[in-house]
Amino acid sequence: MTSTNDIRRSFLDYFGANGHTIVPSAPLVPHNDPTLMFVNAGMVPFKNVFTGLETRPYKTATSSQKSVRAGGKHNDLDNVGYTARHHTFFEMLGNFSFGDYFKEQAITHAWTLLTKEWGLPADKLTVTVYHTDDEAFALWKKIAGLPDHRIIRIPTKDNFWAMGDSGPCGPCSEIFYDHGDHIWGGPPGSPEEDGDRFVEIWNLVFMQYEQEANEIVSELPRPSIDTGMGLERIAAVMQGVHNNYDIDTFKALIEASGTITRTATDGDHQASHRVIADHLRSTSFLIADGVLPANEGRGYVLRRIMRRAMRHAHIIGAKDPLMYRLVGSLVSEMGAAYPELVRAQPLIEETLLREETRFRKTLENGLRLLDEATVDLAEGGTLPGENRVQTL
Ligand code: ALA
Repeated sequence: MTSTNDIRRSFLDYFGANGHTIVPSAPLVPHNDPTLMFVNAGMVPFKNVFTGLETRPYKTATSSQKSVRAGGKHNDLDNVGYTARHHTFFEMLGNFSFGDYFKEQAITHAWTLLTKEWGLPADKLTVTVYHTDDEAFALWKKIAGLPDHRIIRIPTKDNFWAMGDSGPCGPCSEIFYDHGDHIWGGPPGSPEEDGDRFVEIWNLVFMQYEQEANEIVSELPRPSIDTGMGLERIAAVMQGVHNNYDIDTFKALIEASGTITRTATDGDHQASHRVIADHLRSTSFLIADGVLPANEGRGYVLRRIMRRAMRHAHIIGAKDPLMYRLVGSLVSEMGAAYPELVRAQPLIEETLLREETRFRKTLENGLRLLDEATVDLAEGGTLPGENRVQTL
């Protein structure tokens, strides 16, 4: 089995060997964009390089960017734990060209890495292009030899990627992996596209324009490339599993959570263990990047994520603080790739323990109030509104 750590390394090495500068992940708190709560895509730290406001000593780059989608425009928090692919924290692998190569080279790199370096079967791959992008259609045919019906033209915003209402944007081409007909779903653009069979693994954006308030206002100084591949998704493909929570990194965290709480990690508590593993990652990485729990802004989002994980720890019956005891497992899994996690380990543990202790007190008080309020209540009776206990 190829480990998630090996896949990340192999992606960066492939692009490094092909002339790209390997750029370490930027912190989760964006330095260049006050409108954005957290970095939520690999291109965010390069936004000003695309628009020409900033220059760097390189014209092509590759990174594995820490990303958080919780709070703000992209908010996946409530789905996490219950679906195969939602996360609050994920890693986005990407290669970038700032006015250097464009469509042809981007498609060649993607196809070479997936099918030659990593050996994915070509017949499992289907791509989409923006409906008017004849050039991308022809390039996929030429480079990958895909038949026409596996190069699907999509006429919607799904194939026009924008960072937000403002910023660099352009038509895109997505690569889908077919997990097989034992899973319900159809190819992109089909009536069954919302099923889980065809999973998008890589998005190649042909960055050409800049927009403001959702309107294209100018062309970028030079056509550029931004790509994004969710590491957890490609790891699932390469490890032969369908659910991201079954990849090695998540399995290790989920097993640690099961061992400490002495509970089964499948069955009734499966979703809770997944929530705990996912939220452990986002909270730890946010704390390592300087965010601390608070009652507003980024700190409030962090507190909400922490409390959601703690609620699930309570659901599985954890009697004592749990999250802080899982940090060591996370550091073993991801500390080599992200040394900031190792450096911040004591701070992460202390912050989690303090928050968990407070949370437990609040929970105990709430439950005691509820007990007192319901003691004289007949079965099936209703609690008067003024006694209502605030739930967390
Ligand atoms: N920026 C593109 C995305 O996030 C690659 O999908």
